[in-house]
Amino acid sequence: MSIHQFGKKFITLLYTLTRACRIYDLNNDVVITAGQKFYQFINSLFDIFENIEIVRYRDYIFFNKQRLRFEIEGYASLQFIDNRLKHLDIKTIVISKGIEKDEIMRFITIFKETKDIFMNEIKQKSFPHIFVEFKTTKDEIPDFLQNGERTKKVYFKALMVTKNLMQNLWVNRTVDVRSSKRVVYNLIDTLSRDEFGLLALTTIKNFDEYTFNHSVNVGILSLALGQRIGLSKKDLVKLGTAGILHDIGKVEIDKGIIYKPGRLSTSEWEIIKLHSNFGVRQILKTRGLDEVSLYAIVVSYQHHWNYNGTGYPPRKEDEHPIFFSNIVRITDCYDAMTTFRPYQPTPYIPPLAIKVIWAKRGILFDPVIVKAFTQLLGVYPVGSCLKLSSQEIGLVVRQNPGHIEHPIIKIILDSKGKKVDGHTIDLSLDKKVSIINPVYPQKYSINPASYFV
Ligand SMILES: [Fe+2]
Ligand SMILES: [Fe+2]
Repeated sequence: MSIHQFGKKFITLLYTLTRACRIYDLNNDVVITAGQKFYQFINSLFDIFENIEIVRYRDYIFFNKQRLRFEIEGYASLQFIDNRLKHLDIKTIVISKGIEKDEIMRFITIFKETKDIFMNEIKQKSFPHIFVEFKTTKDEIPDFLQNGERTKKVYFKALMVTKNLMQNLWVNRTVDVRSSKRVVYNLIDTLSRDEFGLLALTTIKNFDEYTFNHSVNVGILSLALGQRIGLSKKDLVKLGTAGILHDIGKVEIDKGIIYKPGRLSTSEWEIIKLHSNFGVRQILKTRGLDEVSLYAIVVSYQHHWNYNGTGYPPRKEDEHPIFFSNIVRITDCYDAMTTFRPYQPTPYIPPLAIKVIWAKRGILFDPVIVKAFTQLLGVYPVGSCLKLSSQEIGLVVRQNPGHIEHPIIKIILDSKGKKVDGHTIDLSLDKKVSIINPVYPQKYSINPASYFV
């Protein structure tokens, strides 16, 4: 069982017991059975975990640092517990080893009550194995959400594998795409644990190695988008691999053209455009071809096909891109727009790139996917630099689910333009500061990515 599954079961049993206690008294068979099941499950958890920690932050619930996803199965119980925690103003509950059934039952009898009763009882009665932390007006971001070491490891591993793969193809060595698939599995796991952290790393745009960074970024952005749309894990593996491999055909193009400083001539552009076709050949050449590689082939061929029928390679009127290609079309454009390129020395700042993509929905991009993409990255994506009403400059470090116009920022320049290691502000909660406008980081000699690595 994964942490996520343990978490889901914990929430379901807690829900059943709390509900039973609301309806029946403590001696009722339904309550006794539900209590017994919950107690036994908690005890079995202590064979694996030191503590059981439930954290509610914004609209998410975390079980032992793993974010629990709302799914159809178990939706009611998660919603119920979320409402309870919200109603009681609880930020964290930690249950520690050695808890007895009696303490659990005493806790549940107050957990079902009103906020006043709950707060009063928790202070008065002794709960030696249950620690409750209430929300403060500051609503601090939990520490583990800020700790991204593991996330960074996964990102750089993905980068390394992609680099190896492309470099081997460059010298015509046979490669196995299964290594990319493994990377994708790791990225999917990391996304469910630390979506914000992984998205933040896509602000890394290394000019010299843009194809590698770009490939990994498109893979991550596509996966995050696919996850938001609700794709199954099986589909996410196909989508993520296709995202990473979408530009693989570029290995057949002369590096002189790819890295050419300045504008490309028309004939050079025509050569660049062939990378969609070349990608098909490159993936077909790899070892261990399977269903996942087939999707990567299709996406490589179609990822420059626009919603309105334009784009390249040429296609017939009744030919349409598959859903995965439509996703990669958007994430590819977004990452390319926000990256330094020889022909694009000043990249678009993320909020502007989002605006452009939004404006081109229904023309170049599938409008439904654009909507989900904007919800995912917000109006000011992670890595955006914002001028604030306080004259300070803030860097967007996290999105706020449900508040796409009010992200969480970190102050990086004070009102005099001096670099500072400032505090973190949740703009949806702190109404004293507001956004004036997004700014170009180059103007202030800021490299947003350096704050996330
Ligand atoms: Fe491309
Ligand atoms: Fe691309």
